[in-house]
Amino acid sequence: MKYLLDFRLKEISHSSPDDAMLVLEATDPVKGRKALGEARPGQFVNIQVLRSHSTFLRRPISICDVDADRALLYLYVKNAGPSTAALCSAPVGETFSILMPLGNGFDFSHRPERPLLIAGGVGIAPMLLTAKEMNKAGIRPGILIGAVSADRLILTRELAEAGELFISTDDGSLGEKGFVSQHSALGRPWTDIYCCGPLPMMKSIASIAAGRDIPCQVSLENVMACGVGACLCCVEDTKEGNLCVCKEGPVFDTKRLKW
Ligand SMILES: Cc1cc2nc3c(=O)[nH]c(=O)nc-3n(C[C@H](O)[C@H](O)[C@H](O)COP(=O)(O)OP(=O)(O)OC[C@H]3O[C@@H](n4cnc5c(N)ncnc54)[C@H](O)[C@@H]3O)c2cc1C
Ligand code: FES
Repeated sequence: MKYLLDFRLKEISHSSPDDAMLVLEATDPVKGRKALGEARPGQFVNIQVLRSHSTFLRRPISICDVDADRALLYLYVKNAGPSTAALCSAPVGETFSILMPLGNGFDFSHRPERPLLIAGGVGIAPMLLTAKEMNKAGIRPGILIGAVSADRLILTRELAEAGELFISTDDGSLGEKGFVSQHSALGRPWTDIYCCGPLPMMKSIASIAAGRDIPCQVSLENVMACGVGACLCCVEDTKEGNLCVCKEGPVFDTKRLKW
């Protein structure tokens, strides 16, 4: 079920000048607890950004974490343009209309034995809830995250608590030097890969996974508008024909994609 709810900004923190972690509290705690309790890892919300006067459509942002008991939603946002800039500089107390939870999310219902989560950039955000929900299911994943440099990495402490954390940075300032696709941890006998990040990174990981016959799920970030399968602006040309990433995805088994 989808919910259209108002959330008030309770806290905002920054790990760099152009990003923000937003802690949002549902104004209706009863409905908020219900909606947040149904949110699955890898799903996203569509948020209305009224303070950006050039933004007419809602913007899709991954669910980073939830605290359903306290009706709290955590979103990590990187400034990529007008609406994300407005989100990154939002004043505490601002209210946002949010449509959620949207999309399908990562599937680990088959209880993977040795899953590896791989993420870069804002793609790291949905991996927090994914790892925590895996923990609740008795699964401790490997988590491989990458960034240009150490100061661009996010959620390292929280992710290290939820799994075995591996890090790569392009400049070698933390972890192994290079891309996540070059990290030595990839050589371990993982049974499943879950990936979210820039398209070239996901394609590279998908190709490595295919070469070793490891099932691989990726979360696509096609440009979206409605977020519910009505406008068709997010379609991906797959082996099954055109599919709406907002509704059939954003998570796809790479075997379904024409990569
Ligand atoms: C499923 C999904 C999950 C996402 N999760 C996050 C997240 O957790 N944190 C985060 O910071 N960003 C996330 N994004 C990306 C975020 O939606 C875009 O950065 C944002 O919409 C840009 O809007 P803007 O007005 O700030 O910039 P714009 O100037 O409108 O665009 C800047 C860039 O973002 C892309 N973009 C613009 N509109 C959209 C749109 N409606 N959908 C997707 N991409 C768009 C453009 O192609 C451009 O490259 C996600 C996108 C998708 C599809
Ligand atoms: S965003 Fe409208 S159909 Fe996907």
